[in-house]
Amino acid sequence: MKNIHSYWAYIVLVVLIFAVVNAIIGLVKKKEFTHKDFRLGLFALILTHIQLLIGLGVYIAGNWYNFLSDMKNSYTRLLALEHPLMMIIAIVLITMGWSKHKKQVKSESKFKSFAIFYGLALLIILSRIPWSNWLA
Ligand code: HEM
Ligand code: HEM
Repeated sequence: MKNIHSYWAYIVLVVLIFAVVNAIIGLVKKKEFTHKDFRLGLFALILTHIQLLIGLGVYIAGNWYNFLSDMKNSYTRLLALEHPLMMIIAIVLITMGWSKHKKQVKSESKFKSFAIFYGLALLIILSRIPWSNWLA
């Protein structure tokens, strides 16, 4: 389960970066929002939702909640609290961006929703990935 979470993270990051860059390009070049843009946004949403599910599994299976009493240790604080909490906030932002884009009609507004919400989520995710664990 831990390995799946670790590998899934690569896919999530790559697709999320694609989605954000695509939205910024669409916004700047004033492109029309097409089915391709829709699918990329949906793909990123589904991948992150699956990562949320796997993450919850890793958290519970690894008894990470037991370490919530050990917040002086920056390693356990990151994995038991900061990483899960910030990732959940990021995934909520992505879900909000998705819902917002659906309600909008203009291409520009759709790209803007993705650029802002997915972009912010990407920054949050990058800030709280346990890099030293992951790439070691
Ligand atoms: C803990 C697990 C999960 C939670 C809390 C969750 C939560 C949500 C919420 C609140 C929405 C609503 C977005 C909206 O307003 O349109 C949503 C949409 C969606 N979720 Fe999840 N989700 C979870 C797991 C999953 C998984 C495992 C998948 C895929 C296998 C998935 C696929 C989707 C899709 C495709 C939509 C968008 C539907 C649409 O608007 O077309 N979710 N999810
Ligand atoms: C977009 C969302 C997420 C991404 C990109 C992500 C990414 C990662 C990465 C790269 C690692 C390091 C894996 C390794 O050691 O090789 C990790 C570890 C971990 N993640 Fe996530 N994660 C996400 C969401 C979550 C969520 C929502 C939870 C829990 C609710 C969670 C719980 C954990 C835990 C407990 C670990 C430590 C596993 C261990 O070392 O035993 N993650 N995550």
